[in-house]
Amino acid sequence: MLDNSPSIDSEKFSFSNNNSIRGFEVIDDAKAQVESICPGVVSCADIAAVAARDASVAVGGPSWTVRLGRRDSTTASRSLADSDIPRATTSLVNLIGMFGGKGLSERDMVALSGSHTIGQARCVTFRGRIYDNSSDIDAGFASTRRRNCPSASGNGNNNLAPLDLVTPNSFDNNYFRNLIQRRGLLQSDQVLFSGQSTDSIVTEYSRNPSLFSSDFAAAMLRMGRYRTTDWFSRRDTKGSVDPRNEGTKDLHFRMDPDEKLIKHVLL
Ligand code: HEM
Repeated sequence: MLDNSPSIDSEKFSFSNNNSIRGFEVIDDAKAQVESICPGVVSCADIAAVAARDASVAVGGPSWTVRLGRRDSTTASRSLADSDIPRATTSLVNLIGMFGGKGLSERDMVALSGSHTIGQARCVTFRGRIYDNSSDIDAGFASTRRRNCPSASGNGNNNLAPLDLVTPNSFDNNYFRNLIQRRGLLQSDQVLFSGQSTDSIVTEYSRNPSLFSSDFAAAMLRMGRYRTTDWFSRRDTKGSVDPRNEGTKDLHFRMDPDEKLIKHVLL
C-alpha cells in the first residue's frame, strides 16, 4: 500500500484498514532484500501475493503457484477502498454484490471468508453482535466474548478476540463448524450461515476440509488475477522478453529459525 503524499490519499487510512491492517514491515523488508538481489523486477504486489500463499502454508493451509508479474499501482483511492471493501456489518446480499463486482462468486466468497480460520478482530468490529441479544449468536459464546469487550462504545475498542475460537492459529475448517453453532465472531461471518443462500456451502466446507482447502486456493488465484491483464515480464540484457520468465515463475520465501529475518530465493 502506498503512503500518503500530496497526490495520494492512501487506502491505509480507509475505514477498514485504519488501525487494523498490520505487517507492512514484513513486506518492506522482503522488498528491500529482493531489490538488493534483483533490482527493479519484483513488485510489492507480487511479494504480498507470495507472502499470503506462504502464510497459508505456514499455518497448515493449502499452497498454490502464484502468477507473478503483477505491477504495482502508482495511484491510490481511499474513497474507493471505503466503498468497495466489505465491513463486519455488511449484509449477505451486499457481500455477494461486492464480491460479484470483482468477478468472484458466492462460493469464492465463502471459501475466502474461511481465511478467518486464523487471525484476530478488535472489539469495535464485533461489539454490536455480542450485545444485541439476537437469536443468531450462541448465548455462551456471546457471554465469553463480552468479558473482554465492554459494551460502552469507545471502551476497549482495540481488545482482540480470535476469529476462530477453536483453533485460532491453524488453517482448518473449524471456522465453518463454528458458524453452524452460531459462533461466528463477526456479523459478516455469521450471515454466511443464517438461513440464506450460502448455508449449503458452509455445510459442505464444515464436512469436507480438503474441498475447502482446494476451493480456497482456487479463489485466492482468482482474486489475485482481478483486473490484471498487463503482466510484467523480465527482460534480458538486450531488452527482449525472456519467455522463461514470462509471468509464471515462482518466488519462495524462507523463514529463519527465529522467524524474524526472511530470506528470499528467486528460483
Ligand atoms: C467477506 C468479507 C470480509 C469482511 C467483512 C472481513 C472483515 C474483517 C474484519 C472486520 C477483521 C478484523 C479487523 C480488525 O479488527 O482490525 C478481519 C480480519 C481478518 N481478515 Fe477479513 N473480512 C472479509 C474477508 C476476508 C478475506 C477475503 C480475507 C483473505 C482472503 C480475509 C482475511 C482476514 C484475516 C487474515 C484477518 C485477521 C487479521 C489479523 O489477525 O491481523 N478477510 N476481517
